[in-house]
Amino acid sequence: MYLRTLIIIITNIYFLVSYVNANEDLISYDIIDYSIPYSLTNIEGNIKNGREVALSRQGNCLACHKVPMYDDIFQGNIGPSLAGIGNRYTIAELRLRLVNPYVLNPDTIMPAFYKVRGLKRVDKKYTEKSILSAQEIEDVISWLATLKD
Ligand code: HEC
Repeated sequence: MYLRTLIIIITNIYFLVSYVNANEDLISYDIIDYSIPYSLTNIEGNIKNGREVALSRQGNCLACHKVPMYDDIFQGNIGPSLAGIGNRYTIAELRLRLVNPYVLNPDTIMPAFYKVRGLKRVDKKYTEKSILSAQEIEDVISWLATLKD
């Protein structure tokens, strides 16, 4: 009984420590007026790479969003179309929408792409990593800003 309690305590401490460490790896940012005004990396986003990440399985944006110019690829409609998204939002607003959309809508099914998931009992490589890196976030939002029709 004592041993069991000890194991539970150690396991919990392990999760707590790995969660804190994981968070430390993320660059901190300020949310101001429903946006993240400052670049996460200070390196300008690469539009071409951003498009690749968005269309790849890593970003998987098309699973839920339509992007009119890629009509040949299967596109989902769970989320709003990304047509003209560059006119509707500023770069700072797009950054928050990708980094952590739960701030705007706690019930959203849009994943937070730059947030460590606080899940237990999943493969370590997923508990400690955000879906996209800080630079990939910058790249994807640079690409989104070009969608202006
Ligand atoms: C699992 C489905 C899903 C995936 C994957 C997903 N989104 Fe979303 N997204 C949504 C939903 C649903 C919304 C609507 C916002 C809400 O629920 O509050 C949304 C909203 C957005 C918005 C704001 C749109 C608006 O008109 O207000 C942007 C921008 C966006 N997503 C970009 C992306 C990008 C870029 C990717 C890929 C890196 C992505 N999304 C991946 C579901 C998804």
